[in-house]
Amino acid sequence: MILGFLGTGRITSSVIEGIFKSKLKIKKIYISPRNKTIAKKLSKRFKKVSISRNNQQLIDKSNWVFLGVTPKVGNKILKKLNFKKNQKVISFISTINLTQLKRAIGRKVKIIRAIPLPPISIRKGPVPICPPDKQVKSFFNQLGATIEINNEKSSINFWATSGMMAPFYELLKVMSDWLIKKGIKRSEAQKYVTSLFMALSEDSVINSNKDLKYLVKDSQTPRGLNEQAVKQLRKSGFYRNLEKSLNGILKRLNKV
Ligand SMILES: NC(=O)c1ccc[n+]([C@@H]2O[C@H](COP(=O)([O-])OP(=O)(O)OC[C@H]3O[C@@H](n4cnc5c(N)ncnc54)[C@H](OP(=O)(O)O)[C@@H]3O)[C@@H](O)[C@H]2O)c1
Repeated sequence: MILGFLGTGRITSSVIEGIFKSKLKIKKIYISPRNKTIAKKLSKRFKKVSISRNNQQLIDKSNWVFLGVTPKVGNKILKKLNFKKNQKVISFISTINLTQLKRAIGRKVKIIRAIPLPPISIRKGPVPICPPDKQVKSFFNQLGATIEINNEKSSINFWATSGMMAPFYELLKVMSDWLIKKGIKRSEAQKYVTSLFMALSEDSVINSNKDLKYLVKDSQTPRGLNEQAVKQLRKSGFYRNLEKSLNGILKRLNKV
């Protein structure tokens, strides 16, 4: 299979890295010349990656085309490009919906929206796709865990939660910086904090068939440190604000 990536930025490079760590049988990958630096790096690193002359050439040569451009760029360029009949188009673009994509592409192609996240580069993490598609499902299952969603409106909720990556890293940063202020070396502080959250994340995945409130409860000793922390954070509105942020992102996504 020949893949094409329109837009060679953060998410495209993560997906391509993941592909070459997986068992997927890919004949060739064409990437667009932008971003020039990233495109050059990828083509140097992976023999099967070639930089196409322009966006149209990439589409002409590929079986599946991934859209890894920002919504602004997508709105500008998609209508000028000619997709092949029955080509598969997988869009990573957060705020262009299926109807708008169909209209912009203007050809009978199969369009799937997907939400890969940067850890796809290490073949980890969920990849919600909408609408369900057998081939795309098995493709992303090699790079993480595909979640098929029937209804586009419902898939928007997953987009909203994917906006919590930077807040998560900020949490790690604040904790590490706090340790550093207490005189601990950066390397030790960061190792401690990231290993702690790695362990907690793994444990929560193992327990993800249970209601997560049990993990919240089980990790607290009565009158212990965790009880104090969660109570104080609740009282300060930390979690209410988290929900507010999710609602804010959702509102923006629903405007599209
Ligand atoms: N990052 C994530 O975690 C993530 C996750 C899921 C989905 N997404 C979605 O994926 C899309 C890309 O996100 P990103 O974070 O990868 O953004 P990014 O790093 O800014 O990548 C966008 C790429 O598009 C290129 N580009 C600009 N104009 C172009 C044109 N006319 N033709 C071809 N390529 C062009 C840019 O090149 P220049 O640098 O030369 O402008 C850049 O390589 C967005 O719609 C985003 O919502 C992102």
